[in-house]
Amino acid sequence: MALAGKNIVIAVCGSIAAYKIATLIRLLVKADAQVKVIMSEDATAFITPLTLSTLSKNPVLVDYYQPDTGEWNNHVEIALNADYILVAPATANTIAKMANGLCDNLLMAVYLSAKCPVFFAPAMDLDMWKHPSTQSNIAKLGVYGNIIIPPEKGELASGLVGEGRLAEPEEIFHFLENYSNQKLPLLGKKALVSAGPTYEAIDPVRFIGNHSSGKMGYAIAQQLKELGADVTLVSGPTALLKPDQITVVPVTSAAEMLQACEKYFDHAAIIVMSAAVADYTPIEVASQKIKKKEDEFSIALKKTTDILATLGSKKKKEQLLIGFALETNNELENAKDKLVRKNLDFIVLNSMQDQGAGFATDTNKVTIINRSGESSVFPLKSKEDVAKDICSIILQHIPSTI
Ligand code: CTP
Repeated sequence: MALAGKNIVIAVCGSIAAYKIATLIRLLVKADAQVKVIMSEDATAFITPLTLSTLSKNPVLVDYYQPDTGEWNNHVEIALNADYILVAPATANTIAKMANGLCDNLLMAVYLSAKCPVFFAPAMDLDMWKHPSTQSNIAKLGVYGNIIIPPEKGELASGLVGEGRLAEPEEIFHFLENYSNQKLPLLGKKALVSAGPTYEAIDPVRFIGNHSSGKMGYAIAQQLKELGADVTLVSGPTALLKPDQITVVPVTSAAEMLQACEKYFDHAAIIVMSAAVADYTPIEVASQKIKKKEDEFSIALKKTTDILATLGSKKKKEQLLIGFALETNNELENAKDKLVRKNLDFIVLNSMQDQGAGFATDTNKVTIINRSGESSVFPLKSKEDVAKDICSIILQHIPSTI
């Protein structure tokens, strides 16, 4: 999860251990990382660029220009686009060059242009590893902020046994994953999000529903996930694709949504209820399709349980509860009233008076109000950007427990 979408440049040097990089690339690609491979000239003698380009799904770069097209490989662009650069296997020679800024190939030019975290996984024979010159180069790299993925002890290509074996691909993968996880501020936090409309059945073929697309709630769930939270998304019927790495609980009616939200509420640190829940539901659901008869026809409705208010009444101080208010008039007043009545920490107000806000659009314009009644007004934005604004408020207030 942590590595999904990350641009990872792997710089492969000339070592017998280069074959292990094929497995590492497979693990990274499987985790949805974007992998770009750069090889030193010597590395191509140990594993073919064709193997690594096939596995990484990207061309492998060796030189400053592509031999077939003459196209320049822009080392600065490659380095600046990378989220992480991993030099693996890092030979004694390349480590020495890194420590001293020697730039005699594309790999080194990329390294020297990097602004992102740089990892290096050494691989060499045990005496080369122990040599004071190698150790002093490695110490220098530490000073530059480069991160070592330590070699393992074991049988070496020379037949000797000792320290210097390239860390196993799985180890390197977990090292990168853990590093990436540590940076996510909501790691270890559970979040519960509701989204979409509810459908209240009238008979087997008809229902009372609304125009909610679910886009706002899905964008919030996605953003919380990207910040590291373990997200459960209770979703009414929508046409949206099931998001990756989010637990989606599909529901239809307000009663089902209540049940699902109550189930996940206790363990959630962050609760965002953005669903457009039906306020009323038919008292009786006809078991057969209702036939057309009289000119006028009415359906008796009863109130649904207010999910947000139910959760608000049980809220613990370590939980952050955020609701939505869709208003057409007296917006601020109504929203503040809902915030107090439902015991929320924040309420996100949409006004139907604002163009591009509310249901079934890709944009939204919100005002976020806190418990002291202070409001922050945001301009019209994409729902993804509105989700980021909501999450930045969550980050400022997230309780450190749970
Ligand atoms: N909500 C809920 N359960 C309901 C109705 C609403 O959890 N049965 C939640 C929504 O998910 C939203 C908030 O309450 O976060 C406000 O919804 P809204 O429809 O604006 O307000 P209501 O409380 O239904 O009040 P009114 O219809 O009077 O505006």
